[in-house]
Amino acid sequence: VALLIAAGGIWFATNAVRATPPAVGTIDFRAPLAVPPLAPSRVEDGVRVFELTAQEGSSSFVPEGRTPTLGYDGAYLGPTLVAERGEQVRVDVTNGLADPTTVHWHGMHLPAAMDGGPYSPITAGALWQPEWTIDQPAATLWYHPHLHGRTREQVDAGLAGMFLVQDDEEAALALPREYGVDDLPVIVQDRSFNSDGSFAGGLGMQFDGVLGDTILVNGTVAPYLDVTTERVRLRLLNGSSARMYDFAFADGREFDLIGTDGGLLQAPVTATDIPLSPGERAEIVVSMKPGERIVLRSLAPDPALNAGAASFDVMELRAASSLTASPEVPSRLADVPAADATGAAAERDFVMSGHNINDRQMDLGRADVVATVDTSEVWTVRNENPLPHSFHVHDTQFRILSVDGAAPPARLAGFKDTIALERDREYRLLVRFDDYADATTPYMYHCHLLWHEDQGMMGQFLVVEPGQQPDLKRPEGDTD
Ligand code: C2O
Ligand code: CU
Ligand code: CU
Repeated sequence: VALLIAAGGIWFATNAVRATPPAVGTIDFRAPLAVPPLAPSRVEDGVRVFELTAQEGSSSFVPEGRTPTLGYDGAYLGPTLVAERGEQVRVDVTNGLADPTTVHWHGMHLPAAMDGGPYSPITAGALWQPEWTIDQPAATLWYHPHLHGRTREQVDAGLAGMFLVQDDEEAALALPREYGVDDLPVIVQDRSFNSDGSFAGGLGMQFDGVLGDTILVNGTVAPYLDVTTERVRLRLLNGSSARMYDFAFADGREFDLIGTDGGLLQAPVTATDIPLSPGERAEIVVSMKPGERIVLRSLAPDPALNAGAASFDVMELRAASSLTASPEVPSRLADVPAADATGAAAERDFVMSGHNINDRQMDLGRADVVATVDTSEVWTVRNENPLPHSFHVHDTQFRILSVDGAAPPARLAGFKDTIALERDREYRLLVRFDDYADATTPYMYHCHLLWHEDQGMMGQFLVVEPGQQPDLKRPEGDTD
């Protein structure tokens, strides 16, 4: 079926190959949920050192055949890195691929030269050694490639992993935190397969990117999780390139939303669903009774997100016949100061339309924004067309001041680095630029639908010293 869709004055032709996962209640959850291993590390002269190798492999997802995939230190996805606030870390990244890649630390506050965006290509066979000090609250962050124009391709092939930041405040709280037991990464992705088992969905296939008919959780098709404790903490990451989810339990049960992209909320929010667009994270704690089985599902996302309409199942949680006691979720979690725009150094508008931001495509030679270090700005963001879009900012965790002039819902009141944009709503963000001035290397902001990002729905911002002249350098080897 060919459709023509008007978006921002441009007509997009699509073959409407958006696939939908099977109807709710039809999946036979048959595979134990894979849990990414914890990345080993060593301490060298006071620096915690990790090693990651991007490599080719193949994975078994479907009976049709093995799927050629990419992974870090394995065939698909990568290990979970864990570091403490205040620690100096270094990651020795080896590119074992035939192509260049980068590794971006999504949600991390760090110098632009360590950020792993398009300015830090790692050629095939090369080693890249970013080093920085972890200086932000405990949070569920993640890492993935960010090669200019090729992010979707590399992420969809399997390059992604989690990076957990820990701190003393979080450690002092009675929260589930035994990795792989009652504290689990839940990386949700959708894929479709060709008849030989390879991933379907090449570049140019759709104007939003790939929407697959098969849900993978941590790389597992039709997963179940054996639960042995009364409460379990799920660190949900929408690791899909285009699909938006609205996570809920099939029986509509309430859970506690305890954290969002940049860390814990001030207090748990009782919720029955949590929408996540690509790149967003949520930490939830759900209670189970002995012997119970519940299905984690995605409800049809809000139509204002333009993100499709289906409900489908994601994974099953199976409680053992006797469960280890878990403490109640604390009523107070973290210090989240009130978002206050007083003294903001600038106000800027960002209109998302077509594959553009403010009618412009990404240009590696242009700094779209020059901000001053240790200031805050108010960024007003709107999605002005019928395509689904989100907004992600590197380096910083922003606050949502208002949505259409009203206070944000509680689930959006904490630290965020990515938000889904409902059509024609006005999101006012308080964006803070701390610590790292660099007049030559920019950070990125962009739509996190990876196909849109690859199509140029991205801009660059420099953070400079007061009065310093920007002096943007193109990435090495760039010839655009
Ligand atoms: Cu998760 Cu600029 O990316
Ligand atoms: Cu990012
Ligand atoms: Cu978009």
